[in-house]
Amino acid sequence: MKFFLDTANLDEIRAGAALGIVDGITTNPSLVAKEGKDFKTLVAQICEIIPGPVSAEVVSTECDSMVKEARELAEIAPNIIVKLPTIPEGVKALKICASEGIKTNLTLIFQPLQALIVAKVGATFCSPFLGRLDDIGHDGMLLIEEIRTIYDNYGFQTEILAASLRHPLHVVQAAKAGADIGTMPYDVFKKMLNHPLTDIGLERFLADWNKAKK
Ligand code: E4P
Repeated sequence: MKFFLDTANLDEIRAGAALGIVDGITTNPSLVAKEGKDFKTLVAQICEIIPGPVSAEVVSTECDSMVKEARELAEIAPNIIVKLPTIPEGVKALKICASEGIKTNLTLIFQPLQALIVAKVGATFCSPFLGRLDDIGHDGMLLIEEIRTIYDNYGFQTEILAASLRHPLHVVQAAKAGADIGTMPYDVFKKMLNHPLTDIGLERFLADWNKAKK
């Protein structure tokens, strides 16, 4: 499973990159707005830090304007992935982007048929939002399982990018359900390596070592 950070914050991205296990970045308009910086400059900086896929989202809702934005974003760096909303206009834009070799991440996926459609049309990534389904009392993880089955049935190459992951258990469950990638906030990312028994165990080892040396 690949790990993406779901943030547009450069400090978090640098800290994650330093650990050497960040495979890519996802951003969205809300995350970018939080940073208060020029969108394209910020995305270019992220692409310099992380050589893997960096998703940057269009903000138009009509096909022609989405494609125009997609072409401009794709110019920023070779690792840009253009994020398109999974709406009819977004699917039309996806078809054009795919024909031009622009890599895409189809976002805001909440049901398996949306995932099937975007794979048929040639999406690079599909992003089911698990946490937001859980928020309204649905089983977000079931969606990952359904998409995995459908993609495997037909041999689709579109990668399943489990998004809206809210805690480490979501990452574990998404990995078990066969997601290719999990994208998570920095806070969740930091928790993935933590266990109190590891800290206690290390403390004891070092205390015993130091005692024996005296
Ligand atoms: C993914 O690409 C999205 O940016 C993200 O995972 C949304 O997460 P949220 O539902 O916590 O806002």
